[in-house]
This record gives sequence, C-alpha cells and structure tokens, in this order.
Amino acid sequence: MHSFTYRQQHLHCEDIPVRTAAERFGTPLYLYSAETLRDHYRKLHAAFRDFDPLICYSVKANSNLAILNLLVREGAGLDIVSGGELFRAKKAGCPAEKIVYASVGKTEEEIRDALEYRIHMFNVESIPELRRINEIAGEAGKRAPAALRFNPDIQPDTHAYITTGKKETKFGMDIETVRHTLLNQGEFPHVDFRGIHVHIGSQITDALPFQRTLQKVLELTEHVQSKGIALSALNIGGGLGIVYENEQPQTADDFAQAVAPVLRKINLPLILEPGRFIAGNAGILLTKVLYVKDTPAKRFLVVDAGMNDMLRPSLYRAYHEILPVEQKKSEPCQPPRPADVVGPICESGDFLGKNRTLTVNEGDLMAVFGAGAYGFSMSSNYNSRRRPAEALVHEGKISLIRKRESEDDLIRHEQMVP
Ligand code: LLP
Repeated sequence: MHSFTYRQQHLHCEDIPVRTAAERFGTPLYLYSAETLRDHYRKLHAAFRDFDPLICYSVKANSNLAILNLLVREGAGLDIVSGGELFRAKKAGCPAEKIVYASVGKTEEEIRDALEYRIHMFNVESIPELRRINEIAGEAGKRAPAALRFNPDIQPDTHAYITTGKKETKFGMDIETVRHTLLNQGEFPHVDFRGIHVHIGSQITDALPFQRTLQKVLELTEHVQSKGIALSALNIGGGLGIVYENEQPQTADDFAQAVAPVLRKINLPLILEPGRFIAGNAGILLTKVLYVKDTPAKRFLVVDAGMNDMLRPSLYRAYHEILPVEQKKSEPCQPPRPADVVGPICESGDFLGKNRTLTVNEGDLMAVFGAGAYGFSMSSNYNSRRRPAEALVHEGKISLIRKRESEDDLIRHEQMVP
C-alpha cells in the first residue's frame, strides 16, 4: 500500500497535492508519507504478532531523524551499521535496548561507544571482530551482548550487489565457524552470546530463500542447544522486496506464514530488520523537466535531479516508475517519442529512467516512485550539487524535515591553502 494517488489527474501524497510541496520547497525534493511508513511497520508487526517480534528498522534505508523518530514512536527498534547511525538512533530517541549493530568493519571507537550506550546486541561478522569486542568489553569491565552473523550460502534472486548470504560475500561466518564459536564461547569471557543473526540480501520477493536459510539456522541451533548452549535471540535480518515495476512480492502475511513453521521450531525471541519494506514505497523524488532535448538518435528529458540525488538507477540499473505530477489533457508540444530521463551530471551513467514514453513539457513536474528507501540516504554532493530537501506529510500537514543544502554547506569543512 502507499499513499501517492492521482485525484482528478493531480498526484497527491495522502490529502496534499504534490505540486504544493514542490511550490513550497522547490525541486529536487524527497516527499514522504507518514501514513505509509506507519502502515508498513504495523502490517509487518501484525503479521508476526504470534512471535512478539522486535522490529528494528534498518536505518541505512532512510536515516532522516523525523522518519526514525516516527518509527521509534510506533515501537520500532533500529538496526545500525556505524557510529553515525548510533548517533542518529540516540537523537531519534530509540531506547538502547532496541538497537542492534551489524557491519563487517566496526572500529574500536564504534564498539566502545555502542557498549557504553548498552545497545541490545552486536551482530558479529567475524572472529577477529569478536576478539576485538571481547577485548574492549574486558577493558571496560562489561559484557558485550552478541549474536553471530551466520552466512548460510544461499542465493536469493536479486541484484549481485545486494546479495549478502552467499559464501563469496564478505558478510557473516560459515556454519562451522559459528557452531565452533558457540560451543567454545569460554574463549571470549567478556562476550554474552545471545544467538544468531542472518541477512541474506535485499529486494527479495519470494519466501523460499528465507525458508532455506532458516532451515539451516534450525540445524545450527538444534545442534548447539543439544550440547547445552543456551540461546535467547534469532535475528532474521531484512530483505523483503517491494513493487518498483511489475514485481509480485510476497505480502507481510505471506512471508510470515511461509516462515512461521520453521520459526516455531527454532523457538527463540525474534528480531527483524526491514528497511525497504517500510520506507521504499513511502517516498517519491520530485523533479522538474529542464529541457526536452531531441537528437537524431534519441530524446532526452533533462531533469533537475541526477545520480547524486538518486543513485539506484545508475548503480544497479534499478527501475523506478516516473510519472508526470499533473496528468493534463493539453496537447504535448512535441510528438511523443520514448525518452531517457537524465540528470545534469557529467556522466553518461546519469539517468533516472530509460526509454520512457512521457508526455511532458519543459517546466513540468515529475515524480520518481519508490524513492523512500536508499534514495536520499545514498545521495552525495558529486558535481558540487547541493543535496535535496526532504519533506513529510504527517497528519494532514506537510513539513520540511531536511533543508535543502546551501552553497556554504558545500564548503563548510574545507579551507584554502594555508
Ligand atoms: N539488515 C542488514 C544487516 C542489512 O545489511 C540490510 C541492508 C538490512 C537489514 C535492510 O535490508 P532491506 O530490508 O532494506 O532489504 N542500496 C541497496 C540496498 C542495500 C541493502 C544493504 N543492507 C539498494 O538501493 O537496493
């Protein structure tokens, strides 16, 4: 479900005409719906209610404070991967006992700060990291709560860059290493081993790879429990796919029903780490057509948002629906012709969409759908472009939740040759 709909040919976000947002805050602009964010969180929570899950929203998907705060107020915890995300989690008011911390490269400082803050647990990705955590906890006179990230060697059907559960990827540890470590946990006296973490990838639309993964987790937990090891957590990660084009992803209920039997057998307190499922379709990127450029080979719709604002099409060749904000009846000034929607950046890989048939003119507004997750959070200042503003529709009102960057912001941390 999402709250971006056409009413009398005008795109609305909940009850607010999207054009209003662009007029107030300019373009490019990320625009989010609080109703959609909440709806997705609640659907997932309800689907797993029999397991009383802790849903730790994955901050990397969209880390704006207002969005984190909105989800935290709903009861969500947060899944973080850096000191910066821990800082955001604190600012957003997330209780420490609802924070889980993954990342293959946690620094000493990050580990120390997270321990100090008493987060719920680390998702530990390697033995060297486990040693480091053990050492730091020992020095601090604390015990570090940890789940071991298990790499199940499962191939989901998704883009190679966002596949994380194959043995060739850098994530987690193989079954033997996890088993051995749990059985010999005395080697890490300052670590409190709580359980298992898995996250096999992102934008996964069917349940089978999750079921296969959990079957392997079951083997693992049964084995170590039979040797007297106590476990108290199972974190099944995120990865649920959404609709960008014509995908038919499982619903939250389908997913829960598919994995419930094996989860019941594993029988441990459950954590999930969804990012895209919650935020993906809760946001659009608004952009204005600057030029309609016809060349003998092609038509280009040159818009004011580029790959620095929205990287997914360039990086993964990801498809995002792009539609005019006003579906007007007036005649287009050019005859229709498939067009590439491109940004102003000096790279041929700078596109938001290819071969789209759109009847728009210069000055028209367009919406890039599915931009709520991994949109702004992957944006950059490339070509010294100021990162866009972000706005949220919440309880019938629209508010700016991140100002557009200024030119001064671009050079804030720089100085001339001393
Ligand atoms: N947990 C862990 C440990 C993760 O690494 C991730 C995402 C998530 C949870 C959340 O996954 P989700 O539910 O959003 O699929 N930039 C890419 C996606 C990278 C995902 C990285 N890890 C994209 O734009 O598609």
